[in-house]
Amino acid sequence: MRKTIALIRGDCASPEIVAQAVRVLDRIAKRYGHTFTYTEADMGGAAIDKYGDPLPDSELAKCLAADAVLLGAVGGPKWDDVPADKRPERGLLKLRKGMGLYSNLRPSKIWPGLESASPLSPELTAKGVDIAIVRELTGGAYFGEHKTWTEDGETVASDLMIYSEHEIERIGRIGFETARKRRGKLCSVDKANVLDTSKLWRKTMHRLAAEYPDVEYSDLYVDNCAMQLVRDPSRFDVIVTENMFGDILSDELSIICGSIGMAASVSLGASAPGLFEPIHGSAPDIAGQDKINPCACILSAAMLLEYGFGLKDESDAVQKAVTAVLADGIRTADIFVQGCVLTGCRGMGDAVLERL
Ligand code: IPM
Ligand code: MG
Repeated sequence: MRKTIALIRGDCASPEIVAQAVRVLDRIAKRYGHTFTYTEADMGGAAIDKYGDPLPDSELAKCLAADAVLLGAVGGPKWDDVPADKRPERGLLKLRKGMGLYSNLRPSKIWPGLESASPLSPELTAKGVDIAIVRELTGGAYFGEHKTWTEDGETVASDLMIYSEHEIERIGRIGFETARKRRGKLCSVDKANVLDTSKLWRKTMHRLAAEYPDVEYSDLYVDNCAMQLVRDPSRFDVIVTENMFGDILSDELSIICGSIGMAASVSLGASAPGLFEPIHGSAPDIAGQDKINPCACILSAAMLLEYGFGLKDESDAVQKAVTAVLADGIRTADIFVQGCVLTGCRGMGDAVLERL
């Protein structure tokens, strides 16, 4: 197979993890006889420094022209004071919207050997946690009008949260389809006791539920869901929710599973290339110290192989290698526990390659 991958190396500690993921992709290409070529695209802080724009159209075009996009993470204190519409995060949002990536899948499980990294009690983690969050990615408050103005001498701000029925339906269907491929349970999360967007969300989901009688369907308010996730995460299989609730719940779920440094994600649209990225940030506090955990990025590369290129065996091989590294007690600082071997970002990459 011949494929091109657009690489967005990202800011702060991010290039360190992307480098390890690329080593893994190259090893897979060699072992299975594929050719992966890379194009470099700038987004976020790097693009602000180079072009004064967090995602110039030229860089978006490079992503659209590739077969898949691998991203680390963007942002950092250096760009904290730039105007809101020029922040690194705006580049990421423009990329998601510009590529039409409305569906974001964030699977999280407790990896064997990482049970003690979870803040939950051993009784709870022993019941097993394996949850996929299906997050709507191009609507809601992230993409409604943002404005700040002055009224009666004080500053006022507003963010418009907006959803149309077709946006809910297309992500809802992905929720049901994802549940079908897993353990057959779907929980839709909203705030229908307060928000109109959530009332429409719930009504649309109920209409769809009738078409998927084989899926065990339930609804939860988002506040209750946040609580149930720490009370008994084993009750969940797939969660489908709107953009901002999905952002928040996926961070909560990642730490329930031990570390955000392990959490990968895939964003897909109707036809455009997929975007594969860890859900964590650019870790400015440890940038350049070879300390960041590259697993989330390596696992995002595994998802790229499976969801981007249909290479299931290759993807499984990467996941098995990561599993073996953890089983052998090799850990970066974020997942380190007494008795394990502490390593850095590159050391973790080496360990994965040795097991591939
Ligand atoms: C994520 C991140 C982004 C989001 C930020 C960086 C804009 O938190 O991918 O979860 O909120 O979607
Ligand atoms: Mg987030």
